Amino acid sequence: MSPDEARIKIQMLREELDHHNYLYYIKDAPEISDFDFDQKLEHLQKLEGDFPQFDDPNSPTKRVGGAITKDFPTRKHKYPMLSLSNTYSREELEDYLKRTQKALPEQDLDFVCELKYDGAAISISYKNGNLVQALTRGDGSQGDDITENIKTIASIPLRLRGANYPNEFEIRGEVFMPLEGFAKLNQSRIEEDLEPFANPRNSASGSLKMQDSSLVAKRPLDCFLYYVMQEEQRIDNHYDAVLAAGEWGFKVPQPKHAYLRKAKSIDEIFEFINHWDQARHQLPFEIDGIVIKVNAYALQDRLGQTAKSPRWAIAYKFKAERQETVLEQVSYQVGRTGAITPVANLKPVSLAGTTVKRASLHNADQIAKLDLREGDYVYVEKGGEIIPKVIGVNFDKRSADLKAFQYLENCPECQTPLVRLEGEALHYCPNYKGCPPQVSGRVQHFISRKAMDIEGMGSETVEQLVKAGLVNNYADLYDLKIEQLLPLDRMAEKSAQNIVAGIAASTTIPFERVLFGLGIRYVGETVAKKLARHFEDIDKLQEASLEELLTVDEIGDRIAESVIAFFREEENQALVARMKAAGLQFEVQHQEGASKALEGLTIVISGNFERFGRKEIKELIELHGGKNTGSVSGKTSLIVAGEGMGPSKRKKAEDLGVRIIDENEFAEMIGI
Ligand code: IVH
Repeated sequence: MSPDEARIKIQMLREELDHHNYLYYIKDAPEISDFDFDQKLEHLQKLEGDFPQFDDPNSPTKRVGGAITKDFPTRKHKYPMLSLSNTYSREELEDYLKRTQKALPEQDLDFVCELKYDGAAISISYKNGNLVQALTRGDGSQGDDITENIKTIASIPLRLRGANYPNEFEIRGEVFMPLEGFAKLNQSRIEEDLEPFANPRNSASGSLKMQDSSLVAKRPLDCFLYYVMQEEQRIDNHYDAVLAAGEWGFKVPQPKHAYLRKAKSIDEIFEFINHWDQARHQLPFEIDGIVIKVNAYALQDRLGQTAKSPRWAIAYKFKAERQETVLEQVSYQVGRTGAITPVANLKPVSLAGTTVKRASLHNADQIAKLDLREGDYVYVEKGGEIIPKVIGVNFDKRSADLKAFQYLENCPECQTPLVRLEGEALHYCPNYKGCPPQVSGRVQHFISRKAMDIEGMGSETVEQLVKAGLVNNYADLYDLKIEQLLPLDRMAEKSAQNIVAGIAASTTIPFERVLFGLGIRYVGETVAKKLARHFEDIDKLQEASLEELLTVDEIGDRIAESVIAFFREEENQALVARMKAAGLQFEVQHQEGASKALEGLTIVISGNFERFGRKEIKELIELHGGKNTGSVSGKTSLIVAGEGMGPSKRKKAEDLGVRIIDENEFAEMIGI
């Protein structure tokens, strides 16, 4: 392919990919499969690798991130990023409307009502249709330059659509994390023993501040744009500007979803507010209120702003769902790592549509901070968090005889004195081997779906087995006999058979899941996969030094030290040895059909094929031990060429003396 041909092809692919990205993320109406999208993206990646002269910072290939920013540079906002003043009642909002009308006596005012997204505010600048910069709000007059991180958010266009956008403009919006993604992220953080995020807002703003943009790319972030700065605007009102921004490729609130409406009166505004006060619980993301804006830009200008907020807009904040109830008792849960979590047992109370009986109290410091006592009247809130929270005490109702709160000193399950490590918020029960919930927690984790997925066995069975003294660790599972199970409560012969069969079947579960099942602190699913792939068997992992562990992609000190500590314990070594003897998978099984036919070969794929897809060839190269790279160089061993291999690439290959084969020769090499 000549550079000219490449330039045109690259441009075409970029436009196509931008378009499909728009259909998928903005319109929610994809027209091609993920597979086809990936193929096009791969093709583009390859061409960009071959023709680096056509690099573009806004190419769709840049979405995956990769740039590392140690300190985000601070930059001044061209226009300050203000905040909104808040109202909390119909009266306050009526006052605002009256004040506004009074300031513009002769005007027939049009308002726009929209949702108040709960995330992190950003301001993005575009020049000639290209994203050039994205800043956080910061202190309002200057913010952090988080451009690289923002570019990884798929619903934010890197290049605009059509031709009707202003040459240079700024647009503002809110980056947020949808509830489903938030729940998944926290679930995996808990599995990896990382502190979960308190709410979606924190996880959104925390994600934007991560130094490695390739990690930001993996966070489920989204963004609604809600304000087009007026300079160079040909549109004279906010409502039309927002909808126009939708045409330029931004994700904006849509009237068809009732996320946006025009309103003329307090009654119309309140229709919108009342609707969303109820309906917000069904939204896939969080809002904390409604924003009401004067529609005409000219009138916004006339109203102007105070030092902090514009006079042309106001927020109406929903009341956090809050109830008062009695804190009957604080109980404690012991997790599989021995961490103690205090739990508030409440007099049942109805809150945001559910009956609440329990709420997390997090840790001892939280209880002290709230000055809680058993018997207190407390306020419970269900805000962003899925789990309700105790947020304070009604001291007026505190009776004089309530005793000062005493945090637990011994483990509620095994009476071992609790410890609290320097700098940690939580108390731990140090009785790793003998504390029943820790023992059964580890076994439950081991048998769970993402680990050994043992059929016929649930958490209750595990508890029964631990209580009966039949199981003290996961290795004991593999010694269980049907006769031992039968005397247990409610254990039928059939269930006992199923359990033993389920355990036996788990010996085929691949190494990476066994490794995850071991429950090594900080080794979640992803880390287990990485370690398994890198070390290939448990012996190598067990012998690995700290330095070796640190060479594995994304493994840092904390994880590496935890792995070393786990395998240092003789008890753990013995458990692994027993499970090995029981036939569990402690080494990576090479995939079916795999061979070493292409071992040591660096192979470039070029053109299109009849028998295989490009992706398929790539997978076959890897399956047979070869390495697939994008461009021809001195290191290339072989080119698999199909229809349409460019003449310049062919010449380069010939100059370098690289062998070119067709797809049939390739198939022969790997014996298919
Ligand atoms: S308009 C000058 N519209 O609320 C104010 N803000 O307290 C321009 N927010 O920092 C903002 N949804 O992060 C506007 N539909 C919306 C909004 C919204 C959420 C946030 C924004 C702002 C904060 C103000």
